[in-house]
Amino acid sequence: MLDDDKTATPPVWREIDARSRALGFDMPSEAGTGAMLRLLAASKPSGRLLELGTGTGLATAWLLDGMGPGATLVSLDNDARVQAVARAALDDDSRVTFVAGDGLDYVRSQAPASFDLIFADAWPGKYDGLDETLALLRPGGLYVVDDMSRQPNWPEGHQPRVDVLTARLKSHPDLATVALDWASGLVIVARRP
Ligand SMILES: C[S@@+](CC[C@H](N)C(=O)[O-])C[C@H]1O[C@@H](n2cnc3c(N)ncnc32)[C@H](O)[C@@H]1O
Repeated sequence: MLDDDKTATPPVWREIDARSRALGFDMPSEAGTGAMLRLLAASKPSGRLLELGTGTGLATAWLLDGMGPGATLVSLDNDARVQAVARAALDDDSRVTFVAGDGLDYVRSQAPASFDLIFADAWPGKYDGLDETLALLRPGGLYVVDDMSRQPNWPEGHQPRVDVLTARLKSHPDLATVALDWASGLVIVARRP
């Protein structure tokens, strides 16, 4: 199998996965998405990374597994109950800072061109405030979204939003974009230098 790298999960991932299931968390990022995030995080050795939508920290664990010792990650969620799972499992890693709050408020509080990688896995940064979020990317910075292939739990009328987001990313003159049939469907974008 060409994609068997996603079975090499970060050590703490299984613990978070078990706690997520016990909590009934129904929005986890897939292992394939995580494997891609780990790879991309490893390409930014001293990078400043942002995750919008910590959830229970499944993707956070993959990002940290790829990051070098000099990289840092801010992970943000407005649901303290689910983020508590991530904090319990990952808070002793000094490279990550968990923020409880609204994603769009956080994006608006940050300086332009101040992040090297953004994983936008919440409504803000993806379907709200897209331009403001993309403005946070440094030249060469990466922006990643998942759940871009049709999912069984999509609400009615979601496909057009996905289509608009994909089209905006693909047609943006400052971005190089690829849409991948990988895991739940990834779109990966780099800000042109
Ligand atoms: C798809 S889940 C993220 C899953 C996460 N990547 C993981 O692997 O566990 C989306 C998360 O975004 C959070 N969220 C929704 N609206 C938000 C907002 N306005 N600001 C911050 N977080 C938000 C939800 O609480 C949820 O935990």
